[in-house]
Amino acid sequence: ADFFQQSHKLKGKKVVVTAGPTRERIDPVRFLTNFSSGKMGYAMAQAAAEQGAETILISGPVSLPAPEGVTRIMVESAEDMLNAVMAQYDDADYVIKTAAVADYRPQTIHSQKMKKQEGASTIELERTVDILQHLGNEKKGQVLIGFAAETNNVAQYAKDKLARKNADYIIANDVTESEAGFNSDNNRVTIFGKNGLEQTFELLPKQELARRLLQVIIEQEENHDR
Ligand code: CTP
Ligand code: CA
Repeated sequence: ADFFQQSHKLKGKKVVVTAGPTRERIDPVRFLTNFSSGKMGYAMAQAAAEQGAETILISGPVSLPAPEGVTRIMVESAEDMLNAVMAQYDDADYVIKTAAVADYRPQTIHSQKMKKQEGASTIELERTVDILQHLGNEKKGQVLIGFAAETNNVAQYAKDKLARKNADYIIANDVTESEAGFNSDNNRVTIFGKNGLEQTFELLPKQELARRLLQVIIEQEENHDR
């Protein structure tokens, strides 16, 4: 019932959200990943659906159920995620890149399980495509929202990412904060907009924070006609 009492400010809009970590395979039994729980991205998708958007959630491997009213596409690697996002990009109005995408992947995926040997070992890594940057380069009117997980110099790095990736907003959080960040149900963030917006939120449950972040973005977009 609550679902229908929302103001539906995104009715008729298509919102694409990415969430969770990616997995980069080493061999049939091993992979590289990170601590992303997917909670923030799933909360963003739920908030978009509550506002009446057609919401596509492109998710790395997490153990969360799909929010009500959201179409979910599960992916594994950064490359899978790139392909899934690009397939949704042309008619998207908002793309929210909450996913913690691997920056590197093993140069070769071994087809057999690697056997241990005497002494140390190394895995050669190569860069993945920066999905947000790619979206920024190909932007045709979509509103692009990135996240930035930082342990230091949060504002500076977030603003750098905003500019470098041609994003409209970057939502930054300090992942060293013990009561916020990766696996927590709460988060404390600052949103930076390319038009100079800088707004810090108090520590909030991720679902509540997601609603407020989307609210701020919708208001900004109403004011800055594009
Ligand atoms: N991102 C992406 N594709 C990648 C890496 C990052 O789309 N291969 C996106 C993330 O989804 C996020 C934003 O870029 O929205 C910032 O991610 P982050 O890891 O904080 O920044 P990086 O640019 O990867 O820089 P670094 O990890 O060196 O801080
Ligand atoms: Ca990164």
